[in-house]
Amino acid sequence: MRERPPGSLQIEHVTKVFEGAPAVKDFDLEIAAGEFVSLLGPSGCGKTTLLRMVGGFEFPDEGRILLDGQDITELVPNKRPVNMVFQRVTLFPHLNVAQNVGFGLRIAHVTKAETNKQVTEALELVRLPGFERREVQTLSGGQAQRVALARAIVNRPRVLLFDEPLSALDLQIRRELQVELKDIHRELQGTFVYVTHDQEEAMSMSDRVVVMRLGEIEQVGSPVELYRSPASLFVASFVGSSNVIPVKALRMEDGSIAVELGGTVVRATASEGVMPGTDAALVLRAESISLEPANGGGPRDGNGFASLRGRVADVRFVGAMVHYRVDVAGTRLHAIQSSEGSLLEEGSDVDVSWRMEEALVLPGRGDVTTPTPEDETEDGSGV
Ligand SMILES: Nc1ncnc2c1ncn2[C@@H]1O[C@H](COP(=O)(O)OP(=O)(O)OP(=O)(O)O)[C@@H](O)[C@H]1O
Ligand SMILES: [Mg+2]
Repeated sequence: MRERPPGSLQIEHVTKVFEGAPAVKDFDLEIAAGEFVSLLGPSGCGKTTLLRMVGGFEFPDEGRILLDGQDITELVPNKRPVNMVFQRVTLFPHLNVAQNVGFGLRIAHVTKAETNKQVTEALELVRLPGFERREVQTLSGGQAQRVALARAIVNRPRVLLFDEPLSALDLQIRRELQVELKDIHRELQGTFVYVTHDQEEAMSMSDRVVVMRLGEIEQVGSPVELYRSPASLFVASFVGSSNVIPVKALRMEDGSIAVELGGTVVRATASEGVMPGTDAALVLRAESISLEPANGGGPRDGNGFASLRGRVADVRFVGAMVHYRVDVAGTRLHAIQSSEGSLLEEGSDVDVSWRMEEALVLPGRGDVTTPTPEDETEDGSGV
C-alpha cells in the first residue's frame, strides 16, 4: 500500500466525567507512530470512553489529544484520520461487500475506478479476495468483521482504533484473527490502539499494554515487563495465571525479606514498599511452580529454590499442559506443568518448588478481587 503519514498520538491528561463520576481520569500517554498498544482492564474502567475520545465520538472535559503534533481534541470523527472498528459489526445490510467497504470513499467523491482498486486492495489485505459482490447477510461472523476492518483501513487512516473487535467471535476464529491482525498491522504500518479485556489477547499482540483501573493508568509496559515486574497486585492478578497469596512479610537475619506461608518461612523477592511485619501478597505464577512426586527424602531447599510439601487436590489435562491444584501449607496453589511424561495423581504427595526470584512479594493484602474473564478458562489457562 502507499506511504502514509506517521500517526503518533499524544493523549495529555485527559479526563472525562459522566454525571459527576469520572470515567477516565488524568490519562496521560504517548503512543509512537506505528505502535500497537492495547488497553486492558476490567469492565467499566474507561477503555471505550478513552477510545471514543481519540475517535472523536466523545470530547474530554480536560486535557488534549494530539495527532502528529496537531491538536485534534475538538475535531469531529470524519475530520480526523482515525477509524474505529467496533465489537458488534455495523455493516449496511442493503449494500454488498464492495459497497460497504467503499462507502466512505464514495462520500469523499473518490472516482469509481480508484474506489474499486482500493476496495480490492483492502479486501486482499483482510484475506477476503473476490468477496466484492457478496451480500453481507451471507457472511460468517468472522468474515463480517473482516469486511468491517477492510472498511476501516480502505481510506488509510493514520490511527486505527479497535473496541474488542473479536470478543463476539468464537475462540478459534478469534485466535486466527489475532494472528492476521498482527500481520495486517505489519503490512499497514499504522498505529493501532486496541481495547480488550482478554489479557492473553493483549499480551500476545501488543508492543505495549496499558493496564487501566477505575479510569486511570495502573501500569504501562511491554508484555514482558508487565509479566515479570507487575507494579501492583492489581496488575499481577490481571496478567498471566498468578497465585496471589496473603502472607506476612518477615525480615531474615541477612536483611532479606521472606514470607510466612502457612507456618513455613519461604524466601522470596520483595518489591519496593514491602515492610517487614506487615501484610503482603506473594505472587507466584502457575507456570513457575514445579511439581515432583514426593520421594520421601523431604522437600529440597536452598540453591535458590523454595520448596514445600503438598498434596494434589485436582488434575485437569488440557492438551500440552496439565493444570494442577495443590494444597500447600494451608493454601491451594494453581500449577501448570507440561503434560509430557506421567501425570501426578489426585491425592498424591508432591514436592512443590519454585525459584526464589520468581516469587514476588508485593505490598498490600493478597485479597484483591482477581478478574476472571470468561475467555481465560476456554483454553484452560484459568484456574
Ligand atoms: N454516555 C455515558 N453516560 C454515562 N455514563 C457513561 C457513558 N459512557 C460510559 N459511562 C460510564 O463510564 C464508565 C466507563 O465506561 P466504559 O464504557 O468506558 O468502560 P469499559 O472499560 O469500556 O468497559 P467494558 O469492558 O464493559 O466495555 C462506566 O462506569 C460507564 O457506565
Ligand atoms: Mg467497553
